[in-house]
Amino acid sequence: MKKYIIGNWKMNLNVHESSLFAAKLAQSLPIKRGVETVICPSFLSLQPVSLQINHRQMKLGAQNCYWRDEGAFTGEISAAQLRGLAQYVIVGHSERRDVFNEDDRDIRFKVQAALRNYIRPILCVGETEMERNDGDTEHVLCDQVASGLMNVGSDQLDQVLIAYEPVWAIGSSAPASNDDIAAAVKVVRTQVEHMFGKTASETVPILYGGSSNLENGREILSITGVDGLLVGRASLIAPEFVGLVNAAAEISREEK
Ligand code: PGA
Repeated sequence: MKKYIIGNWKMNLNVHESSLFAAKLAQSLPIKRGVETVICPSFLSLQPVSLQINHRQMKLGAQNCYWRDEGAFTGEISAAQLRGLAQYVIVGHSERRDVFNEDDRDIRFKVQAALRNYIRPILCVGETEMERNDGDTEHVLCDQVASGLMNVGSDQLDQVLIAYEPVWAIGSSAPASNDDIAAAVKVVRTQVEHMFGKTASETVPILYGGSSNLENGREILSITGVDGLLVGRASLIAPEFVGLVNAAAEISREEK
């Protein structure tokens, strides 16, 4: 199976710094058939970085989008405006849900907007620490997947990626345990199976995100059902990010 290493730069690096960092990555990122490498700079940096990168070496993702295609929505950027520029868009990241109060309806509409505009949505799902302590992880994941994919057609699912990102593991000192990740990924696949059938549930790419880095990445990528990583902090350190892409390439080769 193809592996995905996706770097979420979040609100870091200005336009100049983004270009420099993309150039640095370009020096050592391998081009491997088994791995899709995606970087997600800020909206401002997408265009300049797009002009400088080799699109066989890395693809571009946006960190968010608005779900209407155009109109009087001051300050927003639509999936229609990203069309042709970004090949991926992160939708429903927990920082969007928490800090910007995005709800399941917004996220569902964004998934649709991305698909409508030929951009692959990376639907982020994950439980908070409180939900985890209350034993609600499974319910939360099922709800978020069901809601996010509610209006996705079965002919569109092959464009969707899902990222399991336990909120308590994002920006923290350690990722979730391998057992927790394996269990969560299974829950997500089962929910996809209910909605789209067995084949879809086996083929939809599911990534893990939350304190992944070069030290733990290989192990996480080896967990059954994990098809890649959504990387925050470590994606801003060139040797870490390149190392993760190399590890993913090796694992993809071993799996063949
Ligand atoms: P982190 O962020 O790798 O810095 O924990 C992950 C994410 O938010 O996607």
